[in-house]
Amino acid sequence: MRRVLLNAGPIVHFDGLTSSIDKCIYPAGKGIVIINGQIESIKDSNDLVDEYGGTEGQSDPLLKIHDLEGSAIIPGLIDAHTHLLWAGDRSPEVRLRREGMTYADIANTGGGIQSTVRATRAASSESLFKTGYVRLREALSTGTTHLEAKSGYGLDTETELRLLGVMKSLGSAGHVPSIDPTWMGAHDVPTGTSMEAYVDELVSEQLPAVVEQNIARSADVFCEPGWFDTEASERILNEARAQGLSLRMHVDEFKDGGGGALAADLRVDTADHAYCTPLEVRRSMRDRGVMTGFLPGTPYAMGDKWPDMAEVEDEAVPYTLATDFNPNCQTLSLPFMMSLMVQRCGVHPLDALRAVTVNAAKTTPHPTGLVHGQIKEGAIANLNILQTQHWESVCLRPTGSPFTATVLNGDFIAH
Ligand code: NIG
Ligand code: FE
Repeated sequence: MRRVLLNAGPIVHFDGLTSSIDKCIYPAGKGIVIINGQIESIKDSNDLVDEYGGTEGQSDPLLKIHDLEGSAIIPGLIDAHTHLLWAGDRSPEVRLRREGMTYADIANTGGGIQSTVRATRAASSESLFKTGYVRLREALSTGTTHLEAKSGYGLDTETELRLLGVMKSLGSAGHVPSIDPTWMGAHDVPTGTSMEAYVDELVSEQLPAVVEQNIARSADVFCEPGWFDTEASERILNEARAQGLSLRMHVDEFKDGGGGALAADLRVDTADHAYCTPLEVRRSMRDRGVMTGFLPGTPYAMGDKWPDMAEVEDEAVPYTLATDFNPNCQTLSLPFMMSLMVQRCGVHPLDALRAVTVNAAKTTPHPTGLVHGQIKEGAIANLNILQTQHWESVCLRPTGSPFTATVLNGDFIAH
């Protein structure tokens, strides 16, 4: 099956290691040929019209031609941090926070993660699948073609395995973003268990069962004062690494608890939140190849502080942006995240786009092993067609979809 996109507007391709705006974008007038889900070539649109004809009178069932009439194109978006699967409803926490309770106060009185754990354990796999499917379709409608998804609302071996199993089935549901699965048994200590006993259970029971079933690529830990301290986090992460998993961390969300420093020591793939990470630790994460994952939906929803992006840019700290979709922050829109960073934190729109495409691909690879987050020959054909002729419009639709269509594995999905 061959698909030809004619008359594209500007194409933000991110092919090549350059920060120069001109070198990341093809000017209007190109077209893209897609064969069997991969980008075969990017050529002048007029040459493609000569080769394949225009959109009129096409009769070949194995050839589909689309005239984009000048619409801009950007790569398929990659959400490098989500808590996709959970049940329950913590809406009253919005009120409790505004009445003065902190995230930790709510957690200490039975709300927060523990409340979602109770609801998730009680939910059937069928209902989790249905919920997950609806969420994935929602993510696709705002341009996400691939996302990382964590377990972590089971906190026992049976439910953690069940969550990862449902994610695996969702990944092959068709016409939904593909999933990069992460085991996050170390999201919280279940009620009634001591930290010490739970860490023992994580490394001696949950982790081996997850590895045995081969249902997670990475492990993640909520390394934060009040949750997993650096000692427990290091033990869990080292065990996970020894058993073949890649490593990710939640660090320094509310306080500098040494999580960023541990991320640098262990050279994990990505350390996320990182709002309270000191500058020298940011530098050492950068120098040790640790990506920083900023999650602007969390400060947006919880009223916490925004990262100092001027400092991040001055120091050339590489970063991704992701939704952190979770019961407190229920958006799967990466265009909304980009809009927050551009319009509230002074980030350049091309840097925001880089963070959700080519940078996100570094920590969140595609299951086929093909290049994604870039538009180039040989890459998977995941891309988004904007409603306008300007790629910057991706940052101007925080409450809707900026796209008319998404091409997912070569299939054309109109929004
Ligand atoms: O990344 N901070 C830890 N985990 C999630 C939120 C979990 C929850 O409140 O349910 C996060 O923000
Ligand atoms: Fe998170």
